[in-house]
Amino acid sequence: MSNLAYETDPSEIVTHEAEPVLQTLRPVPRISIQAFCETEAVSSPIERAGEDRRMAKAHLKVHMGGVATAVEFYQTAATPNLIIVESSSEPKEMVASLQQLAQVCDPSSKVVIIGHYNDVWLYRELMRAGISEYVVAPISMADIVSVIANIFVDPDAEPVGRSIAFLGAKGGVGSSTLAHNLAWAVSNLFESEVVVADLDLAFGTANINFDQDPAQGIAEAVFSPERIDEVYLDRLLAQCAERLSLLAAPSTLDRVYDFDAEAFAQIIDTTQRTAPVLVLDIPHIWSGWTKTTLARADEIVITAMPDLANLRNTKNLIDTLKKLRPNDKPPKLILNQTGIPKRPEISLEDFSEPLGVTPLAAIPFDPQFFGNAANNGRMLGEMDAKNPIVETINDLAHILTGRREIKAKKKAGLSGMLERLKRKS
Ligand SMILES: Nc1ncnc2c1ncn2[C@@H]1O[C@H](COP(=O)(O)OP(=O)(O)OP(=O)(O)O)[C@@H](O)[C@H]1O
Ligand SMILES: [Mg+2]
Repeated sequence: MSNLAYETDPSEIVTHEAEPVLQTLRPVPRISIQAFCETEAVSSPIERAGEDRRMAKAHLKVHMGGVATAVEFYQTAATPNLIIVESSSEPKEMVASLQQLAQVCDPSSKVVIIGHYNDVWLYRELMRAGISEYVVAPISMADIVSVIANIFVDPDAEPVGRSIAFLGAKGGVGSSTLAHNLAWAVSNLFESEVVVADLDLAFGTANINFDQDPAQGIAEAVFSPERIDEVYLDRLLAQCAERLSLLAAPSTLDRVYDFDAEAFAQIIDTTQRTAPVLVLDIPHIWSGWTKTTLARADEIVITAMPDLANLRNTKNLIDTLKKLRPNDKPPKLILNQTGIPKRPEISLEDFSEPLGVTPLAAIPFDPQFFGNAANNGRMLGEMDAKNPIVETINDLAHILTGRREIKAKKKAGLSGMLERLKRKS
């Protein structure tokens, strides 16, 4: 039996974003980009590319007008790192007009042309003239982000690891517990290296849950970001299982933790370069740095309990995150601690309906199982690998790492769960 709450519709549950090509791209560095467009069909995907989270550090400005406008503009202005120009001219005319652009363009600036002719001669001429890329319209937002990433992201570097951020819709809902157990499941099931970063510096519980007491941890990294590199990161990681390591929170109150919005950017960046999966255990607060961290995560999992305050907060979180991440799927949702005896609760359907997001799973309240695991510093899967809650967590591990959709045989289990939830409400 499983507690998964999805009816199997594979198109619903693949974890990929709307544009799969974006998934493989690393964030674009802090570069300046100016685009000169003749048509809205080209300017609008470029504008949208500028809102993509992978472009968060880059500065993009879109002007209307093609090569001539660009040439005039750069008579007086310095050229940026990248100029994107749309030109609907036919090949020979285009090559001639670009010579004028070359005269006002700093040699260090890269140029991408968006044209309307699919022409081999033109392509060769442009490459020979030092144009970085020629793209034939129509173009999509993802095309633009990929073109930019291909030029500016170091092609020799390892592909970036995926970050999965966990956040509770309210305090104490079980977000950290699920984050730790899911991280453990991923490392255990897929033999994949996983790092858990406990971002709750004051009160984090990852050290308790994994029975670790490292001398150093995430605080060293956030308080001295200039020291962070892959070697330093290795020293901060505490090994919890064969392929699982922890950036532990100090969980002390000797200092206060008023971070600026970028405080965790460096450590997250570095960790993502070293491990394929990074689980971010984010405390239930809304601040500059939690917002930034969530905006940049590859995947977000909200844990909620089935009551009104959780529903209201989840709704606000989902709405806000959709605006912050217009090109990503909405956050994933897990209902936790369902079926607390004598406690009225909102049914799964009533909880999902206003959100437009169906929870991936509903995990029942089981104080004995969770309590024993926590008190022993063990993961649920180590306590009882056959427990249905562990099965659910394993299924979630598959879904969150994009490995598979929910198994068909689970259907019986989930309709059973839905039935029970209905009866309770
Ligand atoms: N399904 C469950 N059944 C029973 N107890 C649970 C369940 N899920 C979590 N718990 C317990 O709830 C408590 C709070 O969990 P946890 O610390 O993970 O919540 P949180 O959302 O991270 O809280 P915080 O707001 O402090 O970060 C823990 O004692 C945990 O063992
Ligand atoms: Mg927590």
